Amino acid sequence: MKIFTETPKFILREIVEGDLMDMYELDSDPEVHKYLGNKPVQNVAQSKEIIKSIRQQYDTFGIGRWAIVDKATNDFVGWSGLKYETMSLNKQNGYYDLGYRIKRKYWGKGIATETAVEALKYGFTVLNLEEICAAAHIDNAASNKILQKVGLKFIETFEYDGISCNWYKIENRSKSTI
Ligand SMILES: CC(C)(COP(=O)(O)OP(=O)(O)OC[C@H]1O[C@@H](n2cnc3c(N)ncnc32)[C@H](O)[C@@H]1OP(=O)(O)O)[C@@H](O)C(=O)NCCC(=O)NCCS
Repeated sequence: MKIFTETPKFILREIVEGDLMDMYELDSDPEVHKYLGNKPVQNVAQSKEIIKSIRQQYDTFGIGRWAIVDKATNDFVGWSGLKYETMSLNKQNGYYDLGYRIKRKYWGKGIATETAVEALKYGFTVLNLEEICAAAHIDNAASNKILQKVGLKFIETFEYDGISCNWYKIENRSKSTI
């Protein structure tokens, strides 16, 4: 099983078929999907397809969301990290997106923040990316706070699928020409 990287508390590894029931627990929770279009998964088969799609992204782009595994308990607490986004969002085609999704029982412990910092570091030092983007529902206070806390800059608000979202970016400072 490929370990991409780690933080003091978490292993950040590839998501595998064996994570099926953890992914189902995560994505079947309506609270988790409150700011994600309110479409929690309805059955395990849907989670199986999500895992398949994430594993396809590792093969195609060398990157995809990472499973967050607690070093102390070995629990799968959610996912975090980068995804190469091929769909057009906010007029941008093809970009690296920072995201995170944590099981509700683990919210408020700094897990999204700690793993987002590591994802940015990985994106800029290992993948050598020029910039990383992110989008968050305007009412998703926790996510908007995290994105700003880890250094992304608010660019603008845009509409996606009838939802108002905030658009953020961070550039690779080592590539700056100044
Ligand atoms: C968003 C989410 C990933 C946050 O995970 P988390 O591990 O609880 O986040 P952290 O503990 O690292 O940080 C959350 C920050 O938001 C703050 N916060 C949480 N709820 C808040 C609220 N309602 N209003 C304002 N701030 C809030 C916390 O105080 C914390 O900031 P602080 O460390 O400065 O105090 C988690 O709630 C989740 O999985 N939500 C569902 C999926 C989702 O919305 N993903 C993001 C899509 S853009």
